[in-house]
Amino acid sequence: MVGRWENRVAVVTGGALGIGAAIVRAGAREGARVWALDVDEESGRKLAATAGDAVRFRRVDVTDEAAIARVTDEIVAESGAIDILVNCASRDSNADATTMTSEAWDALMALDLRAPWLMSRAVLPGMIARGGGAIVNIGSLHAIMTAEGAFPYGAAKAGLAGLTRSLALDMGPHGVRVNTVTPGWVLSERVAASFDGDDARRRAVEQTQPLRRMGTPDEIASVVVFVASDEASFVTGANWLVDGGLGARFA
Ligand SMILES: NC(=O)c1ccc[n+]([C@@H]2O[C@H](COP(=O)([O-])OP(=O)(O)OC[C@H]3O[C@@H](n4cnc5c(N)ncnc54)[C@H](O)[C@@H]3O)[C@@H](O)[C@H]2O)c1
Repeated sequence: MVGRWENRVAVVTGGALGIGAAIVRAGAREGARVWALDVDEESGRKLAATAGDAVRFRRVDVTDEAAIARVTDEIVAESGAIDILVNCASRDSNADATTMTSEAWDALMALDLRAPWLMSRAVLPGMIARGGGAIVNIGSLHAIMTAEGAFPYGAAKAGLAGLTRSLALDMGPHGVRVNTVTPGWVLSERVAASFDGDDARRRAVEQTQPLRRMGTPDEIASVVVFVASDEASFVTGANWLVDGGLGARFA
């Protein structure tokens, strides 16, 4: 069977662990050469050692403009032109809006909003030259609704949704598609660790989910594979909710 990412070259930021790692594995299973970029060297090396020959890992801080230029040059030289970019690297935030420093604000925005643009800027000229490509930004329900104490993660993810729309419009004439995939609660290693053994809290979160469970990284990865594949060739500027129905809940 021919994979849906057959012969593609894909780059996944935040690809060492969690949802990003699931996307890396899924993309490789679908026939792509997949480069995982992440600051988590230990997880990245483990992934590269277990995910097969099609997967490469590089330790890259995606807020570092020069590092992005170096690694994208390396990828093109070694694997060929980049067909698919998945911007998944991110961290959440629970700052107090009255005391947060502007440095802390800038650091969060640098990762959650500026880095997806920097990565897009690095790969887009090649995609435009070849008349095709797909970018998938991993968003969050916080872009459209949020929770108390999550400042300013929602602002960053709302900005990312705006970035998707602008790029989709401006790059559409070049055949490049840009979409957001929006997870709800997903039981990545990070989220699992955040419960810190508090089973009651975890059950309470599960009870708010229409499906009465959190999602798995693989359930996000399968939608990302589809959205970036030719099966979704008329999908651009869209926001694909993969939230188990959580965004349908009123309160
Ligand atoms: N897990 C959820 O419930 C959930 C819900 C909504 C959205 N999301 C989004 O999904 C994505 C992945 O989430 P996850 O739960 O797998 O989290 P995660 O923390 O496991 O993944 C984020 C990855 O980004 C990497 N990273 C952090 N800073 C980096 C940097 N400067 N350069 C390169 N890599 C960096 C981390 O090392 C990590 O591997 C994120 O964009 C997150 O906002 C997750």
